[in-house]
Amino acid sequence: MEATQPKTPMVSISGVNKHFGDLHALKDIDLTVGDGEVVVLIGPSGSGKSTLCRTINRLETVDSGDITVAGKPLPAEGRALANLRADVGMVFQHFNLFAHLTVLQNITLGPIKVRRTPKAKAEERARQLLERVGLSGKADVYPSQLSGGQQQRVAIARGLAMDPKLMMFDEPTSALDPEMINEVLDVMHDLAREGMTMVVVTHEMGFARRAANRVVFMAEGQIVETATPDEFFDNPQTERAQDFLSKVMTH
Ligand SMILES: Nc1ncnc2c1ncn2[C@@H]1O[C@H](COP(=O)(O)OP(=O)(O)OP(=O)(O)O)[C@@H](O)[C@H]1O
Ligand SMILES: [Mg+2]
Repeated sequence: MEATQPKTPMVSISGVNKHFGDLHALKDIDLTVGDGEVVVLIGPSGSGKSTLCRTINRLETVDSGDITVAGKPLPAEGRALANLRADVGMVFQHFNLFAHLTVLQNITLGPIKVRRTPKAKAEERARQLLERVGLSGKADVYPSQLSGGQQQRVAIARGLAMDPKLMMFDEPTSALDPEMINEVLDVMHDLAREGMTMVVVTHEMGFARRAANRVVFMAEGQIVETATPDEFFDNPQTERAQDFLSKVMTH
């Protein structure tokens, strides 16, 4: 069963190429992400997953091709770019919380500065989001007083506070101790069920199977295979995907 595509995709990437010097890091990438769709990107180290994510909020520029978010081309600079970055929430492997700000201040900073939300309203929303990620008692502590899994859930709340059009996650659990991985994946799974549009790079194949509408497999800068999770995990079509799965599923 193919995932259905609405008429205006949330993200549309077409013919995108990116080089780092001699390295052709993204090769003719075409990918659309529908509104409310969860796309999991997987593939070997160095295949271009992070680079592709970073092009979507213009942390990397591209050499050729087109990218639109919610039907609009990516802005190059200024306030429009700040708004794009707010529309595309991003959670990285390392938490990137501001160490000198409390949890509440971390979450309200963007809404106050970029969205110009009044402070009281931003704080009210931040507290709701903290409750949603299971951290209602932690508003006034500093990031260093939290576990890695808690910090990562704050990072998710911080992204959500901007009312993003989509959320991108680049290996959000890879730096976490095993017992903290599920608390983060559970929050992500809830978000997926609530209809958030998500692009997720992860090595957590269980999550990919449960939460993804589509799995996109990359190798050497190319999209090699796109399929539903059941199709991909039960019956990968290409030798490269079969080889990758045989390695990641055995340990
Ligand atoms: N800023 C950069 N300058 C030069 N080369 C880069 C840069 N960023 C990425 N690369 C190279 O581009 C290729 C793709 O990197 P990328 O980080 O996108 O891979 P990845 O699929 O996310 O890998 P991993 O699973 O290890 O995170 C790699 O060969 C990497 O070394
Ligand atoms: Mg990466």
